[in-house]
Amino acid sequence: MTNDIKKQIDNLRRQINEHNYKYYSLNAPTISDKEYDKLFLHLKELETKYPDMITPDSPTQRVSGQPILEFSTVAHSLPMLSIDNTYNEQELSAFDERIAKNLGTKDYQYTVELKIDGLAISLRYEDGILTQAATRGDGTIGDDVTVNVRTIKSVPLRLVGTDYPKVLEVRGEVYMPIKAFNDLNEKRVEAGEREFANPRNAAAGSLKLLDPETTAQRKLSFFAYSLGQTSQPIATNHFTAMNRFKDFGLPINENISKAADIDEVIKICRRWDKERHKLDYMTDGMVIKIDRFTQRDMLGTTGRAPRWCIAYKFAAEQAETVVESIDLQVGKTGVITPVANLTPVKLAGTTVKRASLHNFDEIERLDVAAGDTVIVEKAGEIIPQVISVKQKGLVREPFAKPVNCPVCSEPVKKDENGVYYKCHNSSCPAVIREKIIYFAGKAQMDIDSFGPALVDQLLAKKLIKNFADIYKLTFAQVSQLPRMGDKSAEKVLESIDKSKTQTLARFIAALGINNVGTQSAEILADNFANIDSLMGATQEQLCQIDQVGPVMAKSIYDYFHTEKNVDIINQMFANGVSPSHEKTIVSDILAGQTIVVTGTLENFSRDRIEQTIKDNGGKVSSSVSKKTSFVLAGTEPGSKVDKAQSLGVKIISESEFMKILGKE
Ligand code: IVH
Repeated sequence: MTNDIKKQIDNLRRQINEHNYKYYSLNAPTISDKEYDKLFLHLKELETKYPDMITPDSPTQRVSGQPILEFSTVAHSLPMLSIDNTYNEQELSAFDERIAKNLGTKDYQYTVELKIDGLAISLRYEDGILTQAATRGDGTIGDDVTVNVRTIKSVPLRLVGTDYPKVLEVRGEVYMPIKAFNDLNEKRVEAGEREFANPRNAAAGSLKLLDPETTAQRKLSFFAYSLGQTSQPIATNHFTAMNRFKDFGLPINENISKAADIDEVIKICRRWDKERHKLDYMTDGMVIKIDRFTQRDMLGTTGRAPRWCIAYKFAAEQAETVVESIDLQVGKTGVITPVANLTPVKLAGTTVKRASLHNFDEIERLDVAAGDTVIVEKAGEIIPQVISVKQKGLVREPFAKPVNCPVCSEPVKKDENGVYYKCHNSSCPAVIREKIIYFAGKAQMDIDSFGPALVDQLLAKKLIKNFADIYKLTFAQVSQLPRMGDKSAEKVLESIDKSKTQTLARFIAALGINNVGTQSAEILADNFANIDSLMGATQEQLCQIDQVGPVMAKSIYDYFHTEKNVDIINQMFANGVSPSHEKTIVSDILAGQTIVVTGTLENFSRDRIEQTIKDNGGKVSSSVSKKTSFVLAGTEPGSKVDKAQSLGVKIISESEFMKILGKE
């Protein structure tokens, strides 16, 4: 019996590892996410039932729930060197001449790969199992970040196959994909936290968190690019070693080429300088390496960096311009951001007129003032940023931190974490403007042609002062606006009308509740049958939803218990707004409840009971936690009942459940 279970568990783990490998290393999944989730859930269920069989390398064991107190240090078995840089093609040719001279031959080849902009990490596998992950540190000693690296899905906890050496150290780059970076920053702004300046800082910051559960949410990824210590050689050249990595299930970047000479290297570098913008991760150059290991040994290292390797750094796209003035911008949450107005300048294909200065600490750090000549750069090629002051202006206008809101003049308060200044006046015209623009925005109610210009006109004419007023606008009012023809006015009203049946998730997002972005709104919409049940939810009910913490729960509760907000929502309903919900909800009796089912039920198959719970507004979960509302236990229930008892989670019988549904 136990042997059978062990076989089943081993088999599931093997399948899951194989699919991870196909997904992350080969970029070629052969099953759908749903099928993958099914395998994963099955394994989880078996492990919950037979906890003795859980092993640390099981794919279910990526996140250890325990925060750590501090990182211990690790001495690297081989130093983690850095790479010398070149900044132009002449320097690359000079590098090639040194190689030819030192090797005394022209018989060598290069590999050319992308320089991933993240942070270097060393992974140690013993008998195919990930035993340690360390940061580069000073190259000799780094930090032990194993618990955090284990949460990165593309890092295998166990190598694939059996062909790997007993000890294998792999080095590579941990990075944050651009989309994950943007999403993270969006959330941080919503929560009033400091934004990360670029994906590299975000990756480094995420890996140094003491709580692995938070790291797990940061969507980090990994590419392997070099060898550390090994108990036996795996190849005689780099290109083959990289292919062996791939066979072991380690993700490598596919954009690697062999080059016969430096001209070919230069061609590849030129191509990537243009095409790198298409990638969904940041690169800051190319890395050029001698391919054959014996030749690398002949060339040796200089102590700091190997002689067989060079980086070709892409020119950071920078421009010089003058700060004409510094404005204060009030966002929809009241956060006040300093923005530099620049003399327009061309940068990376666009004309830059403004650059964010992030916050007031940043102004102090840069010591920038209106009148200064500054260097601007596309930070991570995403947002234009002032990098440094090149020359102080003759006439300087030093910048004072705000005491009053620049728009409504109410006193501003500094945020608790000490970075942001905030206007707390909910009637501040700037806050209202930003909230309305956000409400109508593409990812929210998506009201076409309802952009900042129209919002400004409507506000100026006092035709709108909140979301509800949008739905009261008439043709006569809109068509009388300056530069608005009848046709355009009709179009505006049509778009407004169309938005009335926008999805529940978008409607929730559009409200602009503090700490609730588009992703959180989707989670809320998934957990509530309709807006009324969300509005009526208690903080406890909200906290029971996975991914809703006490801070968000309080924001939501406070929002829906502020008379003015409820009044505006009701006015919207009265004017025809009716968010659509794709789910077929029979009732909302189970709204806000997370239910775990175990054992055999009399009246329902497993699929039927899950559907019934969802149809009544509830959510099904496979494992018992403190967030579980109750466990529905049939006959011969599993260990979930014990877990529920130990956590003090309510357990109910099938007949009690039928009573709740009103079907005795
Ligand atoms: S090879 C001794 N390959 O760049 C050579 N490094 O500026 C070992 N990096 O510390 C590194 N992409 O963090 C190598 N394809 C790549 C890389 C890469 C990014 C990083 C690495 C290194 C830094 C040096």
